[in-house]
Amino acid sequence: MKILENYSLKNHNTLAVDCYCDQFAEIKSLSDLEALPKDIKITEMLIMGCGSNILFTENLSRFVVQFKPRKHITIVDNLVVAWAGTPWNDLVNWAVNKNLGGIENLALIPGLVGAAPFQNIGAYGTELQDSLVWVEVYNWQTGLYHRLSNEECLFSYRHSIFKYHDQPWIISRIGLDLRNDKPVNISYQPLQEKFAGQSKNPSFKKVAQAVTEIRQSKLPDPYKIPNAGSFFKNPVIDSQVAQRIQRRHKDLPIFETKHCEGQKTSAAWLLEQCGFKGHREGDAGFYDKHALILVNHGNASGQDLLKMTKMAKRAVKIKFGIVLEEEVRVL
Ligand code: EPU
Repeated sequence: MKILENYSLKNHNTLAVDCYCDQFAEIKSLSDLEALPKDIKITEMLIMGCGSNILFTENLSRFVVQFKPRKHITIVDNLVVAWAGTPWNDLVNWAVNKNLGGIENLALIPGLVGAAPFQNIGAYGTELQDSLVWVEVYNWQTGLYHRLSNEECLFSYRHSIFKYHDQPWIISRIGLDLRNDKPVNISYQPLQEKFAGQSKNPSFKKVAQAVTEIRQSKLPDPYKIPNAGSFFKNPVIDSQVAQRIQRRHKDLPIFETKHCEGQKTSAAWLLEQCGFKGHREGDAGFYDKHALILVNHGNASGQDLLKMTKMAKRAVKIKFGIVLEEEVRVL
């Protein structure tokens, strides 16, 4: 494993922000993990998948470890076990081609398997936590591996124990319970529309294809228009707040959800009402087909992008009294 000094991360984050880190190492295998220096402090380490959920706002005095994309999937004790460096969508395709269900609604989510538990990835009514059985972590300070059960991961909406940053852990593998008798979930409106008049029980592969088409129709390809997916989380509000807003805005979207208490509303809708859909200043802006996607139209710096997100947050707070929370990790 090579350690590079003063290294540019521009080609390693999907928002294409130029930023330098003190040291950089690429992980291809367990032996690369085990070769990492043991004396790196937790606050000095940054572990990255393919950088599809991160906004760099300044140079980093850190040791950056990035997994090289490499598909490695096996079946052990009836569980599907995937190496952290496996591209997430390769795992979804592998599963649906074997008629194994559970993650088909998570098709085309960018990123690598190791990053998936970090924010409990979710889409179209399904979250990773619904299928995940364990997460294996490597402790770079002790050199030991440890397994956390689903409960120990403390999953909630776009959240997990891995976001607390207080353990020297690098996710190395995950174990999933994917089965051919799992029920498909096409309850989300866009999926219902896709399957209207067709079988109520489409195959996992058909569901993954439908999700892929929906995502492609509204989300920009990060390798064509640099972005990091949804920039903010959808806010969870209580019914009094919802009623207050609905007095003026009858069309406020409200989604009941099994994954969190209260009601979720749409951050994209709030941003659109504040005029941010398609809004652009210099090269920083929000996508014109989906207001929740922060985009870099060319050479926006991390600070330009950060300024745009702060402006959007302030506008939503003033107009609706709702504080948006970042989904993307801001560093
Ligand atoms: N909407 C607007 N304006 C827009 C876009 C959407 O008002 O410009 C409203 C519409 O009412 C629409 C609703 O927002 O019905 C929901 O939009 P969409 O289905 O696109 O989903 P989302 O709530 O914006 C969430 C996830 C996505 C996930 C989709 C589908 C979060 C923060 N985002 O987005 O995840 O793909 O649902 O399930 O929960 C990601 O995390 O990076 C991500 C893309």
